[in-house]
Amino acid sequence: MSSNVIAIACDHGGFQLKVELKDHLSQQGFQVLDLGAEGTESVDYPDYAQLLVEAIKEGRAERGVLICGSGIGMCMVANRHKEIRAALVHDALGARLSRLHNNANVLCLGGRMIGVELARDCLNIFLETEFEGGRHARRTEKL
Ligand code: RB5
Repeated sequence: MSSNVIAIACDHGGFQLKVELKDHLSQQGFQVLDLGAEGTESVDYPDYAQLLVEAIKEGRAERGVLICGSGIGMCMVANRHKEIRAALVHDALGARLSRLHNNANVLCLGGRMIGVELARDCLNIFLETEFEGGRHARRTEKL
């Protein structure tokens, strides 16, 4: 499995932000595994969250990004799976803590809640920050 591969999926509410973040990831040298949706036509977010969950379970990517209108529905779906620690993030501190304390492997963003610049910042922090381990590992093991 390559940590250079980032899986990404969205619904119609997250499509525009997905386009921006895919571009950003490619520019940073990541390989992007785009699991849809393909446009702004209305779709059901659970279908796309499920595709990303499967990609991570199968080892096609180590980390992923899910985007819907609020980020909430995607996060709910992803966290039903024990392999996934998905974090709904709205700011840089949340992105940092999701990695430091929670070892999040999926970043959830709301395409209708967050601007592109802030979303890029959150994504960079999510990808660059290492898990602290220690007492936090004891806690994530209890999830
Ligand atoms: C779609 O209208 C919207 O409900 C969806 O993108 C997401 O925000 C759900 O949590």
